[in-house]
Amino acid sequence: MSLQKTLKGAAQTTGFAHEIAENMKGKIVLMNGTLGAGKTTFVIGVAQYFNCYDTSSPTFTLHQRYEGDITIHHFDLYRLESMYELDNIDFFEYIDSGDTCFIEWADKFNLKDELENYTEITITVDNPNARTFIIEEV
Ligand SMILES: Nc1ncnc2c1ncn2[C@@H]1O[C@H](COP(=O)(O)OP(=O)(O)O)[C@@H](O)[C@H]1O
Ligand SMILES: [Mg+2]
Repeated sequence: MSLQKTLKGAAQTTGFAHEIAENMKGKIVLMNGTLGAGKTTFVIGVAQYFNCYDTSSPTFTLHQRYEGDITIHHFDLYRLESMYELDNIDFFEYIDSGDTCFIEWADKFNLKDELENYTEITITVDNPNARTFIIEEV
């Protein structure tokens, strides 16, 4: 899959997430884009589509687990300082679990070298009211 889409407003990001949610199932999805680009909005949209609810502790911000029709692991590496800390959160065990995984700020580390298959979502902020999503499968 290789896809580009411009979305005007958060509701369109959520709608787009619902539209392509089935394509995200079981994938490792690397998400890149600046703070406020819409990474989390998209992940929550996919979780909604699969009737998933956050079952993790609210204080646990590096890794959240959503349970529903499928299991989704949502990582946000923004505050992670070194790649070695990934072992502390069993990152690679979740990656190998077959569950759907979304990783915000994946570009901070050389994660691509560690992964055989992944989907990449790059979000650019066009203006305060629009974002362009590029989705590529590797
Ligand atoms: N397509 C869009 N156009 C304009 N604003 C958007 C769009 N998608 C999401 N947003 C808004 O942008 C912000 C993105 O926040 P968030 O999803 O937390 O970003 P990130 O996780 O990338 O930091 C939210 O305020 C959201 O409502
Ligand atoms: Mg976020």
